[in-house]
This record gives sequence, C-alpha cells and structure tokens, in this order.
Amino acid sequence: MHRLCILLFVFACVSLSSGVEGIGVNYGLLGNNLPPPAQVINLLKSRNIQNIRIFDPNQDVLKALEGSGILLILGTRNEDLQALASDPSFAKNWILTNVIPHASTVKITYISAGNEVIPGPLATFVLGAMQNLDSALKANNLNIPVTTAISLGVLGTSYPPSNGAFSGDAVQFLQPIAQFLATKQYPLLANVYTYFAYSGTPAQIQLDYALLKSTAPIVSDGQFQYNNLFDATVDSLYAALEKVGQSAVEIVVTETGWPSAGDVYATIDNAQTYVNNLVSHVASGQGTPKRPGKVLQTYIFALFNENQKPAGTEENFGLFYPNMTEVYHVNLTPYQN
Ligand SMILES: *[C@@H]1O[C@H](CO)[C@@H](O)[C@H](O)[C@H]1NC(C)=O
Repeated sequence: MHRLCILLFVFACVSLSSGVEGIGVNYGLLGNNLPPPAQVINLLKSRNIQNIRIFDPNQDVLKALEGSGILLILGTRNEDLQALASDPSFAKNWILTNVIPHASTVKITYISAGNEVIPGPLATFVLGAMQNLDSALKANNLNIPVTTAISLGVLGTSYPPSNGAFSGDAVQFLQPIAQFLATKQYPLLANVYTYFAYSGTPAQIQLDYALLKSTAPIVSDGQFQYNNLFDATVDSLYAALEKVGQSAVEIVVTETGWPSAGDVYATIDNAQTYVNNLVSHVASGQGTPKRPGKVLQTYIFALFNENQKPAGTEENFGLFYPNMTEVYHVNLTPYQN
C-alpha cells in the first residue's frame, strides 16, 4: 500500500502517515443539510481522518474521494442484496458501475455486502451476494475483500465474553459466511454499540466500564481481565466465531459511538469521553484480551449528526454538526505507541 501510494499520490502519503492508526469514521448521508462531499473530504483531511465508510455507492462521494488518499469501506444497499445474490450479472454490473471507474484513484479497503441484515429476511442473500461480488472483482483482477457488517443482534449469548455465541437465528447464516471469510482471509465487519447495552441496563453496567474509563479490571473471565465493555463485546464475537470453528477470522469494528443528545446518558460529556478513550485505546495497539498486541481497526459512528434518522439519540451520533463545527473535540493527532 505505501509503495503504491508513493508512486501515485506523493502528497496523500504525507498525510497518510499522520492519521491515528486503526481509526476511521462513518460518513452517513441521512441528512438534508449536510455539506457537499468535496467540503467533507477537506474536513476529513484537516482532521487527519484517513479511513471512512459509506453505506451505498454514492457517486458524488466516490468522485470527491478520487485522489484524496482516503481509504474507503464501500457498502452495497441492503435492497440490492437479493439481486446481487441471485444474478451474477447484476453483481458484475455493480462492480463495473461502482468500483471500476474509481479503482485506480480510490483505495477501497473492503466491500460490505449489506449492513445488519442477519438475522432477518435478507440474511439468506448475504453469502451469495458476497460470492458474486468476489467473483466479479477477481474477474477484473481486483483484490478487494468482500464481507458483510453484522450487528450485535447476531449474539445469543455475550456474557461473560468466553460464552459468546451466535443465536440460533443467526448461526445458520454466519457459519457458512465465516467459513467463506476464513477461506479467503477476509475479515468480518461488526457494529459494536456498547452505548445501547449501557442505556438498556444502566443498573447492571458501570458507566466507567462502558466509557473505557476504568483502568482496573471490572470483569474477570477465565484467564482474561476486562477493563471495558468494548473489548468484552468484541471478544464475545471472537468467542462466537470460535464456536463455529473459525477462530482465524478477524473482526473489524465498522461502527461504534456514543450519542451526544437524545436521552439522559447521551450527553456531550459522555460522548466525548467515550470517543476519545476509544481512539487512544485503539491507537495503543493493545487489541483485546483475546487478540492482544494487534490494532483493532475501528470506525466511529458518525461524522455528522443526521437529521433524517429517527428522532432522539439516533440523530445525535455525529462528531460534527452539519455546519462542520465540532459537537465536541476528538484528539485525532497521531499517538506514540
Ligand atoms: C453550527 O451548528 C450548531 C448546531 O446547530 C450551532 O450551535 C453552532 O453555533 C453553529 N456554528 C456556526 C459557526 O454556525
């Protein structure tokens, strides 16, 4: 990657080396007052944000990203999963339309076949969509891993982390998906909202544990000690992967965050604490107790407050207001490991 970008974008490489290792941000577009993509790309660059994720192949965003040096996780729309799975030519066209025109100027790190559809009526199409997209990429000599993004709704059990297991509804889909990912050495994408766990059962979870504030272990699980719910949750997903025989599949956290408004726990102070602690935790490269010493790639949700999402906390996950001023400050300058 670095050698390639030195050849292609000398200036991009200067900034590539200055981002926070492992940290990305979700660029959601469910707002009617968001700035144009070109301005957003400048904002990302000015804040050292080197990795982003988008949820569908928005052509304006893809165009704006060209030559920016910003790395992209590209999602397919959930509505396209059935056609992607059942019709290889639809998948070929999807790659031809959304990837090939940008392939030489935008570095796509992963393609996500859908977002949070397992379990559910679309779950049955995910593996087929992944396979058809993968074949279409290979036919064009593109080596972009194809995967999917899961929610914590796939877990039947998550406590303690070593008990982590996929639910009966989810395992029938995730077992073959994990097998595919293991064979190809592609990661599984996971959306990890400790905020919802905390706000749903605040009497049972210490706030410091949810906000990555505790420096002492709160949960002990066999040989492992957990200071924070984020690591415990990721490790429960690793335990679930182990139980379907796929301990080699890596997890990339495609969403995590804390809303700054919308309920009593969603304060600017809590959001700022969570996100800053998360960034420094990820950047430390310590990983989780089950997967120590390895940067856990993690994408913050989200770049902007989005006013077309359901009212309440959902609208208030942004690091920035639509006018591009900060909701709260996040330290995104590189950390010394
Ligand atoms: C940006 O928007 C926020 C939220 O609406 C507001 O509080 C702030 O004053 C605005 N800043 C500027 C510079 O307009």
